[in-house]
Amino acid sequence: MVFSGNPGTGKTTVARIMSRIYRSLDILSKGHLVEVDRSGLVAGYVGQTALKTQEAVQKALGGVLFIDEAYALTTRGPQDYGQEAVETLLKAMEDHRDDLIVIVAGYIELMEEFVESNPGLESRFNRFIHFPDYTVEEMMGIFRMRCDKAGYTLAPEAGDELKRILAEKSKDSIGFGNARGVRNLFEKALSRQANRLAAMGQLTREQLMEIRAEDLEDASAEPEKDTDI
Ligand SMILES: Nc1ncnc2c1ncn2[C@@H]1O[C@H](COP(=O)(O)OP(=O)(O)OP(=O)(O)O)[C@@H](O)[C@H]1O
Ligand SMILES: [Mg+2]
Repeated sequence: MVFSGNPGTGKTTVARIMSRIYRSLDILSKGHLVEVDRSGLVAGYVGQTALKTQEAVQKALGGVLFIDEAYALTTRGPQDYGQEAVETLLKAMEDHRDDLIVIVAGYIELMEEFVESNPGLESRFNRFIHFPDYTVEEMMGIFRMRCDKAGYTLAPEAGDELKRILAEKSKDSIGFGNARGVRNLFEKALSRQANRLAAMGQLTREQLMEIRAEDLEDASAEPEKDTDI
C-alpha cells in the first residue's frame, strides 16, 4: 500500500490503526507498527544493507512495516545501496506475504516515481491512498477534541481566534504540519495558560480549565512576535 500526503495528515496514525484492525481480523498475528526511513534500512557498506533491511522486516513480522519517505531508496541511482534495500524488501514481502504488510509513504509525485522505478514495486504496491490536507474546520474539530479529552473548555471568543489562526497557518500546510501543527498549538496554549494563571491569586475550577483567546494568540506567535490586537 502507498500512503501519500503532506506532513501531519495522519498517515502513520492510520497505518497503526490498520495494523490493529488486521490483528483483530486475524490477518496479522501481532498488529504492531515498525516505522523506518531510509536510514533504518540502508547501511554504509556492501552487503550490510540486506542485513539491516532483514532486521527491520524481522521486527515488523506479524504487523506493519511502515517506510517513510520511501522514494529516498531509489532516487540516488543504480549504484546506491537503496536498491539493495528494495530488492531485499521485495523478497521479504514474497516470503512473508501471509504475515507482513508493508506500507510506503511520502509525497504523492515522488511515490508514483518510486513505484514506477521498478516492476517488482509496481506489482506489489498497487493501492494508493491519498491523505489530503485537513480543512480549517477539521483542524478546529481536532483542537476541540484535544480540549475535551484533557478536560479543557474553549472560551467563546477563543473559538474565533482559533479559526483565524488556523486559517492563517494552514496557508503553509507543509510548514504548519496539519494535525501535528494543531497538537503543537494546543500544547503551547496550555503552557501559556498555565503561565497566565500562575500570576493570578484564587482560581475557580472554570478558570483553571479555560483556554482563552490570549492563550492562543501567544501560542501561535512566531519568534519575531505577533502583531498586537
Ligand atoms: N484526524 C486526526 N484527529 C486527531 N489527531 C490527528 C488526526 N490526524 C493526525 N492526528 C495527530 O497529528 C499528529 C501527526 O499525525 P501522523 O504522525 O499520523 O501524521 P503523518 O501523516 O504520519 O505525518 P508525517 O508525514 O510527518 O510522518 C499525531 O499526533 C496524530 O495523533
Ligand atoms: Mg508519519
